[in-house]
Amino acid sequence: MQQEPVVRLQGVSKIISSRSLVSDLTLDISPGQVFGFLGPNGAGKTTTIRMMVGLMSISKGDIFISGHSVKNEFEQAIAQVGAIVENPEMYKFLTGYQNLVHFARMSPGVTKERIAETIERVGLTARIHDKVKTYSLGMRQRLGVAQAILHRPKLLVLDEPTNGLDPQGIRELRDYLRLLTHEEGITVFVSSHLLSEMELMCDTVAIIQNGKLIDVRNLRDEQGSDTLVEVAFEVDDAERAVQLMEGEAVIQGKVIVMSLSREQIPDVNAKLVREGVQVYGIRSVTRTLEDQFLQVTGGGGIG
Ligand SMILES: Nc1ncnc2c1ncn2[C@@H]1O[C@H](COP(=O)(O)OP(=O)(O)OP(=O)(O)O)[C@@H](O)[C@H]1O
Ligand SMILES: [Mg+2]
Repeated sequence: MQQEPVVRLQGVSKIISSRSLVSDLTLDISPGQVFGFLGPNGAGKTTTIRMMVGLMSISKGDIFISGHSVKNEFEQAIAQVGAIVENPEMYKFLTGYQNLVHFARMSPGVTKERIAETIERVGLTARIHDKVKTYSLGMRQRLGVAQAILHRPKLLVLDEPTNGLDPQGIRELRDYLRLLTHEEGITVFVSSHLLSEMELMCDTVAIIQNGKLIDVRNLRDEQGSDTLVEVAFEVDDAERAVQLMEGEAVIQGKVIVMSLSREQIPDVNAKLVREGVQVYGIRSVTRTLEDQFLQVTGGGGIG
């Protein structure tokens, strides 16, 4: 984490007509990852993104992209950003390729080779010479992403990129975003209100609700040996097993569930077996982001 953050939000607020849409967001995003910005409808995701890319002014605080202040050094800051916030502007009667050539003219230093490479990165090679009006939603989005990364930005910002995509499309999006972080070293910032998608797509997730940052979680942390995990033991006599655990376990149907460190699992198993309890299975109960989300937000509304 010593690397300079690609994005630094420092006490960012957005106030419109004395109403706080976003309140005092402070957050560092380290490079080379897919970062998720998760929150229910109206949480302030789009508002934050609009401030990040300069589509809306920042009321308080500041945003730094690769160390450049969006408030005071906008040109340098925005030069590091590629984004799809509103519908990307595309010429429907031109081919995907012609659109990219058109946009490349506006970004200095984008070569033909770079255009070809970008098309390949987003997996649009087979259809790039077709007219955009014949593209599906997923293909248009790929073209939008290609257009956004032509100039090799350090940060790619996508507001709700999974909206309208079918499960296959979502899976493909996930794959090529991951490829972008690996092969181009781009940091991808995606917003979503869908927990399950964020869990699969992102390395880190920040949760926002009512304009406030509630939590930031690293989803790729390797679990240390002293981390407690929920472990379920499937046994023949759950009540007896719970008694043996002296209040450390709870019954859930046919299993007993306990919070244990990795090292404790074989000990508990040995104790059960020693006491004559039949153990049919042991598995860890991974708490999903959804459980965690409901816990931190007190179960309150998410779409
Ligand atoms: N220009 C504006 N003027 C006044 N209020 C606004 C403006 N833009 C957004 N809001 C309000 O700010 C709050 C946050 O909206 P925002 O669009 O950022 O939420 P979001 O997290 O992107 O939600 P969604 O998941 O529905 O896209 C909402 O209550 C919205 O009504
Ligand atoms: Mg939004």
